Amino acid sequence: MKDLVVAIDGPAGAGKTTVAQIVAKRLCVPYCDSGSCYRAICYLALECGIDPKDPKLLSFLKEKKITLDPGKVFVDSQDLTSHLREPAVSANVSTVAANPEVREYVTNLLVSQSRGRGLVIEGRDIGSVVFPETPFKFYLDASLDIRRERRGGEAIEGRDKIDSRRKTAPLTKPSDSLLIDTGRLSSDEVASRIFEKIEFLLTKNRFYSVAQKILFSLFKIYFRYSVRGLENLHRQGSLIVASNHTSFLDPPLIGVMIPLYYFAKEELFSVPIFGWLIKKLNAFPVQRDGFCRKAIQRGIRVLENGGKILLFPEGTRGDALRQPKKGIGLIARLANEKIQVPILPVKILGSEKALPRGGWFIKPHKIQVIIGKEISPERFSGKDDLAIAKMVMEEIGKL
Ligand code: DC
Repeated sequence: MKDLVVAIDGPAGAGKTTVAQIVAKRLCVPYCDSGSCYRAICYLALECGIDPKDPKLLSFLKEKKITLDPGKVFVDSQDLTSHLREPAVSANVSTVAANPEVREYVTNLLVSQSRGRGLVIEGRDIGSVVFPETPFKFYLDASLDIRRERRGGEAIEGRDKIDSRRKTAPLTKPSDSLLIDTGRLSSDEVASRIFEKIEFLLTKNRFYSVAQKILFSLFKIYFRYSVRGLENLHRQGSLIVASNHTSFLDPPLIGVMIPLYYFAKEELFSVPIFGWLIKKLNAFPVQRDGFCRKAIQRGIRVLENGGKILLFPEGTRGDALRQPKKGIGLIARLANEKIQVPILPVKILGSEKALPRGGWFIKPHKIQVIIGKEISPERFSGKDDLAIAKMVMEEIGKL
């Protein structure tokens, strides 16, 4: 945890400060409020009678040294913390923060003073500019009414506008950050969501990686396993992989190419050894009569965290391509209410011969996996669940 940098961005009143402090406390790393640097510079400028709009505003800072202490700002040895929320500072800070020289100065200050240490840092451009390389990026937001109420009726619209429209490092959601709507969540709930994602990113499933390598070699030899269209499989980001389903072999036949999460019938988890194995290999339980709410939520969480899930639109195994159930449409629609997740159609040929339904022996039959082109979320927006599922099945049929 020592060098883990957690970036929490978002507009004023989104709840960043309380959440960032909870997260920092639980991770035992310092907390940093980057906005306080801009506030300190704004305060000093006002103190010196310098116009906050002056492009050369920074010149007065040359001889001064700003030091950040968790939750505090010192200039030389003077603690400015108690002045940072004064109305004049709040009214002018966005203008100061839009000054490119000031931004460069603060970015360098934040990076140099945090080097090599773990840190939870909140701001507007932390994930996009200050620490773009950290994988732990969060973007908190809530409706304007809620944010205004949280700030005791402060007119935050003006600040929002300047922060998001300025030329240098505007307030924006980094595409690889997790968006959390804090409107109806308590600070502890938001912090838990952040921990869940951090844990997801930190827990590399070693068992899966080893099994993946071993099975890949075995499949190559035993099934003369081959893949067509591998260039269509993008390794980064969330994805719904949708495949036809004819055999118990199907999940590992796709899972050897890329780490996947997938649903398996609840009762399979109580089969000795096999149940333990599929759990270790990222399966999660679904009730026999369809997707239960818990399973759907779990699948969506995996996608939100940047993971990939494997779905069989037809539901259970069967020989030819069949009519889909609406489950895949439901998951794709719900996931895309929050994030952009494409669907990747995949067709497996030969697994029904290698291990047919009811069969006990795995035969060395040739197996080929064909990967199609991603179906972008725009193609299924506005469609109902069954129509999405049918479209996916059609794409699988074309492969
Ligand atoms: O979070 P805050 O209200 O204390 O931020 C004060 C101002 O500083 C606000 O207008 C946005 C700006 N700011 C910024 O531009 N970039 C940051 N990383 C942090 C704050």
